[in-house]
Amino acid sequence: MKQQDKFSSKLGAIAVAAGSAVGLGNIWRFPYILGENGGAAFLLIYILFTIIIALPVLISEFSIGRMAGLSATAAFKKLAPGKKWYFIGLSGVLCAFVIISFYNVVAGWTLYYTYLAIVGDLQSLNEQEVTQLYQQTSSDTTTCIFWMVLIVGAIAYIVARGVQDGIEKYSKVLMPLLFLLMIVLCVRSVTLDNASEGLAFLLNPDFSKLTPTAIFAALGQAFFSLSIGMGVMITYGSYINKAQNIQRSAMSIVVIDFIVALLAGIMIFPCAFSFGISPDSGPGLVFVTLPNIFNKMTAGHIMSIAFFLLLAIAALTSSISLFEVLVSFAKAQYGIGRRKATIIASVLTVCVGIICAVSPTVFSLFDNVSANILLPLGAFFIVLFIPIVLGRKRLRKELEANGDKCKTFSLLYFLIKFIVPLAIFSLFLYCIVNWLFVN
Ligand code: PFF
Repeated sequence: MKQQDKFSSKLGAIAVAAGSAVGLGNIWRFPYILGENGGAAFLLIYILFTIIIALPVLISEFSIGRMAGLSATAAFKKLAPGKKWYFIGLSGVLCAFVIISFYNVVAGWTLYYTYLAIVGDLQSLNEQEVTQLYQQTSSDTTTCIFWMVLIVGAIAYIVARGVQDGIEKYSKVLMPLLFLLMIVLCVRSVTLDNASEGLAFLLNPDFSKLTPTAIFAALGQAFFSLSIGMGVMITYGSYINKAQNIQRSAMSIVVIDFIVALLAGIMIFPCAFSFGISPDSGPGLVFVTLPNIFNKMTAGHIMSIAFFLLLAIAALTSSISLFEVLVSFAKAQYGIGRRKATIIASVLTVCVGIICAVSPTVFSLFDNVSANILLPLGAFFIVLFIPIVLGRKRLRKELEANGDKCKTFSLLYFLIKFIVPLAIFSLFLYCIVNWLFVN
């Protein structure tokens, strides 16, 4: 088993992990899920879950990865030889496949919107026309498939040539640019007429709106947004240098990821309320709101091109991390080369992607099943692996490998051993009972 390359610079490993975390999950998925689940109360639960559940899972994945120096399946085989734990890696492969199938459809929409912005077709549309444009886009299967295939082609080209690092180098400059652009858009959005209603929706909790489904959705979103529960972060953990502080790295990713999601909320909801767009408009939310802001700002044309292009690039870096899971699996499992593995993975993802593009039902099934079921289940077993196989001492040793004392270790271990698995288990149980007997 080949040890993964270590990133020389301190920023390297964190940047690639952040590149995987920050993507459509923050800017497309977070606002629409929050909008469907009652707003601010959902946000609070989301924050709570991110801190007490998702952060310990991320630290666990990084620790397992760095300890083994290998990607998910191989890491479990090395750390628990002869045991069945490597099935976590296999379920990660299934999950990557499910996510990538609908993710690339949305990534295709962002690329199409970039094109529309460039040719000026996003300009001077009124609210109805903006909404119609999204409806046309998402129901026109030829358009969806064409742009999705273009995205998959770009990913395949990058992955087959093994030049992901090159992309990460660009994204280290481009992602802060996206961040700045989002701040500008937030400022414009909160200064629109009626913006305060949107801000109140985002920041003023109404706990009566908090249904079991909403709580479950918050957990799924926390996992989806941080790319955890399927072993991607185990692979990135294997890139982390022993001199780096894992907890601090994990914390910075959580903070960056959260801020981007929050900015997306501040950018979208005031605008939605200002233009009379319902916050529960579903997966089209970002596409039916943002063009309206661009039409109300100076240099809106350039801004719209830049925004959709940078969003497409953010989607690309996340999608590459999913694609890499499939390619490494095919390589290891079937002993084929990188190019062949990439071609097989591309063809398969395009085929299932077409089904997602054609059927909104399959699209939302894949979206829900991956975030709300597969990722929490994966995370459940990943955290169980720590006390059952690694034990307290080895985890502590790994976390303190850089020489820093881990002051919060007891709390962290308590969360990993009891709170995270119990929380996931009871949420599953609660929802199953609720769906069976209450609905
Ligand atoms: N975290 C990504 C996003 O927020 O867009 C989506 C994702 C990428 C989920 C990679 C899971 C994953 F393994």
